Amino acid sequence: MELKIALLAGDGIGPEVIEQAVKVSDAVAAKFGHEITWRPALTGAAAIDAVGEPYPDSTHEVCATSDAVLFGAIGLPRFDNDPSNPVRPEQGLLKMRKKLGLFANVRPTFTFPSLLDKSPLKRERIEGTDLVFLRELTGGIYFGEKGRKDGGETAFDNCVYTREEVIRLAKKGFELAMTRSKRLCCVDKANVLETSRLWRETVQSMEKDYPEVEVSYELVDAVAMRLVQWPNSYDVLITENLFGDILTDEASVISGSMGLMPSASMGADIALFEPIHGSYPQATGLNIANPMATILSAAMMFENFGLQEEGKAIRNAVNNALEEGIVTEDLANGGKSYGTKEVGDWLAVNI
Ligand code: IPM
Ligand code: MN
Repeated sequence: MELKIALLAGDGIGPEVIEQAVKVSDAVAAKFGHEITWRPALTGAAAIDAVGEPYPDSTHEVCATSDAVLFGAIGLPRFDNDPSNPVRPEQGLLKMRKKLGLFANVRPTFTFPSLLDKSPLKRERIEGTDLVFLRELTGGIYFGEKGRKDGGETAFDNCVYTREEVIRLAKKGFELAMTRSKRLCCVDKANVLETSRLWRETVQSMEKDYPEVEVSYELVDAVAMRLVQWPNSYDVLITENLFGDILTDEASVISGSMGLMPSASMGADIALFEPIHGSYPQATGLNIANPMATILSAAMMFENFGLQEEGKAIRNAVNNALEEGIVTEDLANGGKSYGTKEVGDWLAVNI
C-alpha cells in the first residue's frame, strides 16, 4: 500500500515522540512492503510563531490531501498564562477538528498485564479493562454560540446538537460494539438536559437496526463513579463532546500511565491519530518522554487502513518492551530507564 501521511509534530515533546512513531512505522512499512510518504506541516505554538496562527490554511491543505494525519501534541504554558491572548494553540486543534470533519474521537483504555500495579486503582478493580469511548468531537458546547452580555457580567456557552450529529456518532458506536462484546453504553444527562434527551431518544430509535447490541443508558455522573469502581464492566461508551473530554481524562489514568494511551479522531474522509497526553513542556528536548502512546496511535492508523497485522506487530513490540523493561522513566519504578529515542530504536528493531 502507498500511504501519504500528514505529520503534525506540534509543540513540547511532540516532535520527539513523533520522530519515534515515524521510525517504528517505517520499520513496519519495510517489513510488510508498504511505502509511506511523510508530509510534515506546522501546527500549534510552532505555527503561531512561524505564521501567526495555529492551524494555517497551508497545513489544512496538507492534511486534507493526505490519507491520514499523525499528530504529536500542542500547547505551551506561555499561552496558558495569558488568557487575554486571543491566539491560542488549542484553537488550532478545534479548527482542525471542525475543518477536517473529525466528528468521532475514539479513546480506548486498556490495561497491560505487566503494569497492573502501576495503576492508582487496585489490581482487582482494573484487571481485564478494555473499554473504548467514542466522544463526539465537532459539536455541543465547544462549538455553540458563546459570548458575554450585560456589559461582560454574564457569560454563556450554548450546547447544541442535531439529530444527524447524534446518528453519525452513534452509528460508529453500534458498529464498533458489533466488532467487540456487543455492549454499548450511551452516556448522557437526560434527567436535566434537552440535548441529552435528544441523544437518548435518537440512540433508542437506532436500537432496532442493531438487534444484537445490548444498549444501556447511564447518567454521566454515575458513569464518572463506576468508571473508577468497575472500569472492566464497560465496553463501548458513546457520549457528547464535553462529557467525553472529562470522562476520557478520568479513564486515561486507569492503565497506569498517560504515556501509553493512543487515540483516533475519525471523519467521513480522513482520520487523525494522536497520543492522548499533552505537550509536556517541562520535558521538551530531555529525551525522557514516553513515545509509546504515539507509537500505539500509529498502530491504530495502520488498523484503520485495514492493516491489522501491521497494527498487531506494533502492539506486540510494545508489549515485549514493557515486559523486558525497555521503558522511559515514567514506567521504570526508579529502576533502569531508557530514553525516548532508545525506546523508539528498540521498537523499530523488534518489529
Ligand atoms: C482534548 C483536549 C482538548 C479538548 C483541548 C486542548 C481543547 O483537552 O483533546 O481532550 O478539550 O478537546
Ligand atoms: Mn481533554
